[in-house]
Amino acid sequence: MSEKTVVNSWNEWDPLKHVIVGKADGTCIPAPEPALDAKVPEDSDMRGQFGPRTKDTVDKANELLDNFSNMLEKRGIKVDRPDPIDFSQKTSTPDWEAETMFGCMPPRDVLLTVGSEILEATMSYRCRWFEYLCYRPLLQKYYNEDPNMRHESAPKPRLTDADYRKDYLSDKIGIQKRLEWTEDKFFVTTEEEPLFDAADVLRFGKDLVVQHGFTTNLKGIDWLKRHFKDHRVHAVNFPGDPYPIHIDATFTPIKEGLIINNPQRRLPKEQRKLFENNGWEIIDSAQPAHNEPPPLCYSSTWLSMNVLVLDPKTVCVEKSEVYQAEQLDKLGMEVIPVELRDAYAFGGGLHCCTADVYREGELKDYFP
Ligand code: NVA
Repeated sequence: MSEKTVVNSWNEWDPLKHVIVGKADGTCIPAPEPALDAKVPEDSDMRGQFGPRTKDTVDKANELLDNFSNMLEKRGIKVDRPDPIDFSQKTSTPDWEAETMFGCMPPRDVLLTVGSEILEATMSYRCRWFEYLCYRPLLQKYYNEDPNMRHESAPKPRLTDADYRKDYLSDKIGIQKRLEWTEDKFFVTTEEEPLFDAADVLRFGKDLVVQHGFTTNLKGIDWLKRHFKDHRVHAVNFPGDPYPIHIDATFTPIKEGLIINNPQRRLPKEQRKLFENNGWEIIDSAQPAHNEPPPLCYSSTWLSMNVLVLDPKTVCVEKSEVYQAEQLDKLGMEVIPVELRDAYAFGGGLHCCTADVYREGELKDYFP
């Protein structure tokens, strides 16, 4: 590794040295649009309202994100923050208009770090089409400082109506039908063009594991295969999830050889072989500590599993998630409790609100 190496990260658990932590400034509840409607739970308090979130909630979320950043810095981890733009503005391309944007609390959704490369995902919601702009100042800096850094951007999708199944344009589908559809891999996004969010990808050295669901289609996974030519890219599904979006509250690698899996969304037998044939253990995660997500939150209570691994012995767990903390403690991890629940509504948990810049360690083949 040259002295000027700024970007390097091959997996989810090697020692973390440099990370981006999101900000809550100006975050909006986006206006209705096809892909977003399909994922807002049918009984959600967010249906039918959009616009900037209140100052009080933004300030509280920022306080928690700042505290989290300070704690990481005290542990010797360099922290960078994005540059929020005006998310309340209308955006458009020749193909569509969106009333508002979203925010930049969850960099994990947008940026995929693989080795010395940071790849901007296509994204699959119109309101998130321009979100990469918040990270451009940082990516530009890394690019200037590190002669080996690769800054890549996946082809921006057109996101016309042809990208979305009309069947999902109803708020009365019902959980049973959703479960049938998602089990049959009948998702809201069509195969019109490659689509993926970075948070559907988990990095296991030479292998990239990608959730096929609402935010990532098969063409998106194929694009990743063609792009990461030296990697093996695997599509996975998790039946039991009525809103299959982002893999990081479903399947969480903790260290080499150990993954926790959401017990309501178990990886099918066929797809477990990759891990089990190579001596990896997949165990059910602990139950969340809450029965409901916080108000105006897109995510499920399973953000309990959305932990940030600092190194193979140390993991950050949300402070109120006592069962998840207990399980990881019993598995021999040092657990750092981090208060973040009041920021969940801004885009997720501890894994979501971060994106790797540098983890020690090199490319390894865990599934030879
Ligand atoms: N679909 C996920 C999002 C995780 C970040 C959940 O809410 O469970």
